[in-house]
Amino acid sequence: MQPVPAMTADAPIGVFDSGVGGLSVLRHIRAQLPQEHLVYFADSGFAPYGAKPERVVAERSLAVAQFLLEQGAKALVVACNTATIAAVKLLRARYPELPIVGVEPGLKPAAAASRNGKVAVLATDVTLAGEKFLSLRDQISSASDAEFFLRGCPGLVELIEAGELDSARTRALLEGYLLPLLDQGADTVVLGCTHYPFVQALIADIAAQAGKPDTVLVDTGQAVARQLARLLAAAGREREGGGLARLDVFTTGSATALAAALHRLLGLAPAVSAVDIGHIPLVPAAN
Ligand code: DGL
Repeated sequence: MQPVPAMTADAPIGVFDSGVGGLSVLRHIRAQLPQEHLVYFADSGFAPYGAKPERVVAERSLAVAQFLLEQGAKALVVACNTATIAAVKLLRARYPELPIVGVEPGLKPAAAASRNGKVAVLATDVTLAGEKFLSLRDQISSASDAEFFLRGCPGLVELIEAGELDSARTRALLEGYLLPLLDQGADTVVLGCTHYPFVQALIADIAAQAGKPDTVLVDTGQAVARQLARLLAAAGREREGGGLARLDVFTTGSATALAAALHRLLGLAPAVSAVDIGHIPLVPAAN
């Protein structure tokens, strides 16, 4: 257990992802909690998380969380499915007093939305192999009779990080992952990685071209923001208006690239600082 620095309701909420993916969650947090100061951390220098061993992602997530707490964060949003699978349990054990919200593929809303019970789940390989994810899958399958088709999407995060949201390469990669699942009858697609909402339009177009324009896409960003609002209220840590909310942004990659992504994806122009949070040793995460 680590001591958490003293926090006030005026402190920021820390949000992190391996890169730009968490911005798909940040936009919902800003919409639902516009008065809150935010600190966003993009670990782009270490992306993608989904191609690394789970214990490495866990170690990295603990280091990023520590950095955000050093910035005074009063709550933490793990805006990454992969990091949630790998580290949310460890984070909650390490910081028991801290409101922590993770992100999980929306299997439950997808099972409810599907008309035929066939649901495709697109996510990283680490997420799909995680014990936490598999037990969620088993639980929702037995409660709903839904059938889940799991599909890792290697290479997709890299293209989204590079800003290729609608390129021929991204379309070809996504078609290779998605079309076989649509052929198996999936009528609902879970966007199980926070990067994927940024290619939602492309996914919808691929489904429409395949003759399935009614395909339902499930993104949990809004639900995550609602859960954050609930936890902040329960902890008595809501900021009560008063002055413009700040957005501070840090990256372990290129500050210029992240500033461009913030502008392109969310229409925002905050200052972005490049940081180095140090070498993370490849040892099993302590728990
Ligand atoms: N955005 C992250 C997620 O939700 C993963 C991206 C990565 O592989 O780095 O899983």
